[in-house]
Amino acid sequence: MTGNIVPATSETIAQAARLLREGRLVAFPTETVYGLGGDATSETAVARIFAAKGRPRFNPLIVHIPGLAEAEPFAEFDARAREAAQRFWPGPLTLVLRRRTDAGLSLLASAGLETVALRAPAHPLAQQLLREAGRPVAAPSANRSGRVSPTMAAHVAAELGTEVSLVLDGGACPVGLESTILDLTGRVPMLLRPGAVTREELVTVFGEIVSPTASDHVPRAPGSLPSHYAPSRPVRLDAREARPGEALLAFGAEAPAGFAEVIFLSRTGDLAEAAANLFASLRRLDRPDFSGIAVMPIPEHGLGLAINDRLRRAAFREPDANA
Ligand code: TXA
Ligand code: MG
Repeated sequence: MTGNIVPATSETIAQAARLLREGRLVAFPTETVYGLGGDATSETAVARIFAAKGRPRFNPLIVHIPGLAEAEPFAEFDARAREAAQRFWPGPLTLVLRRRTDAGLSLLASAGLETVALRAPAHPLAQQLLREAGRPVAAPSANRSGRVSPTMAAHVAAELGTEVSLVLDGGACPVGLESTILDLTGRVPMLLRPGAVTREELVTVFGEIVSPTASDHVPRAPGSLPSHYAPSRPVRLDAREARPGEALLAFGAEAPAGFAEVIFLSRTGDLAEAAANLFASLRRLDRPDFSGIAVMPIPEHGLGLAINDRLRRAAFREPDANA
């Protein structure tokens, strides 16, 4: 079912903006992953997003706007939040802030929290769509809940096909991993989800950055359910040798022998290239004729933090009493 994919042009973007204003769902490219957009001021549109994804209602959505000026009516921006937006927007950073009482946003989008997650995407097609829609757009990644995020229009159509009125095709997403999520509601900024804006960059701006601990009981859950981004086949991390029937995601110039198939995330060990290739490669290797997907070690710094975060969630299996 690929009938509703259209190349992103001025005409189709105008059509998508109109559909959004009518409360319909539209999938669109951002620099991180494709989003499943709906009018963030409409409870009906937001309810449609949760239904289309099969997403639990306790998991809030990110609200997209073109920039800081359009974001200010929705949240309390203090000096620190303004600084974050000025430095990193438009771009792959989502800010969690206190929602303004007069925000007029769907409460369902915030899943009952008093905060709101805001992001101004840098992708020119997303910018154009948001400006033409003229209203905030709630958009989770355009995949079924718990599955791998889409980095190409075909991924969206394959998974959500008929649930979405239109899929704007803008090619592959250049970053390939979801945005960094930074919670600015506490004294010290909290990194809820690592992403393309790295922890190292955030530390240079804010000094101290903390990560959530068990006692933060983050309902905040940024894709933070332990199993997420999960392919159907089992994923094995830090693989250094082949096991029977496995496919391999390789990193660096050399891959160990014996795998049924090998995809190189980056032959030069480039983390940005590996991030951009990660989700599409997981999808390509998620085939029943492989016993599993092995992944070579990825360095735990910079973008590697975000790559390893997604891989750990992809590898996590619910403890199963019958296993
Ligand atoms: O790169 C991205 O962020 C993409 C593109 C489409 O913008 N969107 C995305 O949305 O990844 P989603 O829904 O797949 O992930 C958003 C995460 C969720 O895990 C949710 O828990 C968290 O953001 N989130 C949303 N609102 C929040 C809030 N008020 N407080 C804490 N976390 C929040
Ligand atoms: Mg998601």
